[in-house]
Amino acid sequence: MLALTCPSCQAPLTATEKNLRCTAGHSFDAARQGYWNLLLANQKRSKDPGDNAEMVKARTDFLALGYYQQLSDHLNQLVGKTLSAAECPQMMDMGCGEGYYTNRLHEYLLNEQANTAENPLQLAGLDISKHAVKAACRRNKAVTWLVASGANMPVAEASLDLLTVAFSRLMPEEFARTLKAGAHLIIAYPGDQHLRQLRELIYKEVRESGFDPSSVLGEAFEAISEQQVKYDFELTSQAEIQQLLAMTPHGWRIKQDVRDDLKQLPSLQLTLDVRLAVFRRSDAI
Ligand SMILES: C[S@@+](CC[C@H](N)C(=O)[O-])C[C@H]1O[C@@H](n2cnc3c(N)ncnc32)[C@H](O)[C@@H]1O
Ligand SMILES: [Zn+2]
Repeated sequence: MLALTCPSCQAPLTATEKNLRCTAGHSFDAARQGYWNLLLANQKRSKDPGDNAEMVKARTDFLALGYYQQLSDHLNQLVGKTLSAAECPQMMDMGCGEGYYTNRLHEYLLNEQANTAENPLQLAGLDISKHAVKAACRRNKAVTWLVASGANMPVAEASLDLLTVAFSRLMPEEFARTLKAGAHLIIAYPGDQHLRQLRELIYKEVRESGFDPSSVLGEAFEAISEQQVKYDFELTSQAEIQQLLAMTPHGWRIKQDVRDDLKQLPSLQLTLDVRLAVFRRSDAI
């Protein structure tokens, strides 16, 4: 398991099968489903933070259709390439959601490399949503699943060899604290053409996001590379269209008249445009 730390006092946590405990006596039980809840009440901004059960189910249903599998394959290959030299890689997927990408990454790395006896791979998926982590837990028992905030990750300083963040918020200070010097951060974020056809149906004016991860990450991170994963796919039924709408924030913002129009569509041609960017944690900051 990764070098987990106590969310109350930051001392190292030692694991038994059912319990994590620090030297100060703080103790955390494993949830029945097998994940660890390390989110303290005072780290929550709301009673039930992160994606709710409905959003989690919508994402699981949509991802099960397979349209994002090529994206997941590209991400896996990029992680494999980036990690190749690391011994016993300690990895975290921050904002892992219901674990689609995390689980496929784990399976890929097990098959490809990085898991010889001397090089056991340690992968944790972390999300602030208990509903998401519960669902993730069902996918894979060999991943360490954590309910925690990305702003206060319960892992030791400079302990991670790789951090992946797919479609989730960047928290530069915490990423810089937890990554080893020279270790990598890989992020997936939507490009300007992502689901353009859907956005054109929903909004009067489709704006480009203008998102620049380098400026958000600041000087603790050096940009290494960026690739674009872009392909077209077609939702072939009204049910699939509704599943996508339930998953994306665009879908949650639709006005009723547009929602009614979308209900008439038998199919929808879409573009996936996602950027995969690699950053390196600077040696000194
Ligand atoms: C758009 S989803 C992406 C999920 C997953 N990476 C994927 O691509 O399928 C964003 C996720 O970030 C989580 N999240 C929001 N705020 C967070 C925080 N402060 N710390 C950790 N996770 C957070 C949400 O619960 C949600 O699961
Ligand atoms: Zn403690």
